[in-house]
Amino acid sequence: MKNIVILISGGGSNMAAIVRTSLRDDWARRFGAKVVAVVSNKASAPGLELARAHGLATAVVEHKAFAAAPDPRAAFDAELAKVVDGYEPALVVLAGFMRILTPGFVERYTGRMVNIHPSLLPAFAGLNTYQRALDAGCCFAGATVHQVITELDHGPILGQAVVPVLPGDTAQILAARVLTQEHLLYPRVIADLLQKL
Ligand code: GRF
Repeated sequence: MKNIVILISGGGSNMAAIVRTSLRDDWARRFGAKVVAVVSNKASAPGLELARAHGLATAVVEHKAFAAAPDPRAAFDAELAKVVDGYEPALVVLAGFMRILTPGFVERYTGRMVNIHPSLLPAFAGLNTYQRALDAGCCFAGATVHQVITELDHGPILGQAVVPVLPGDTAQILAARVLTQEHLLYPRVIADLLQKL
């Protein structure tokens, strides 16, 4: 079985969309793949409850617990890798996972770790993507699924979804429009990837 481990920090709506699609489209039979665990860097992430409701294993590696380590990022990533590796992942899916990962962590999962970013990369890497798209006067916005490389929000693009920017849009309105498309895009791209893994 190709195990999928999903990393989250917050609401987990993309995670839930991936889990729902994997069950609806029977990824176990079609690709020999299944979501086995959801890991969060925050115990308070609402997505953890959602994952448990789906009967998935969950784990928490609190990044704050490593604040006093000589190299907090490296210490957190080492523990995170230990937990993730415990689920023997064929694919690691970052779904609203709001931590910058060290090169060591990224290299460990090269070619088998993907991320979703709420902009049409290479435009607007980083934060506040919706407001930046509005400020730039963009006519379109969207989301990108990409392979994860050491440079933040870069890496080979695996798929994109485009939405229009409409008169009267606020960052919040635009974010909701993009998120709806993310829920379709991310499972579709992962299904494509699973056929090749
Ligand atoms: C999404 O907008 C995603 O693009 C970004 O973080 C958000 C996560 O939302 N990386 P959710 O936790 O999946 O609901």
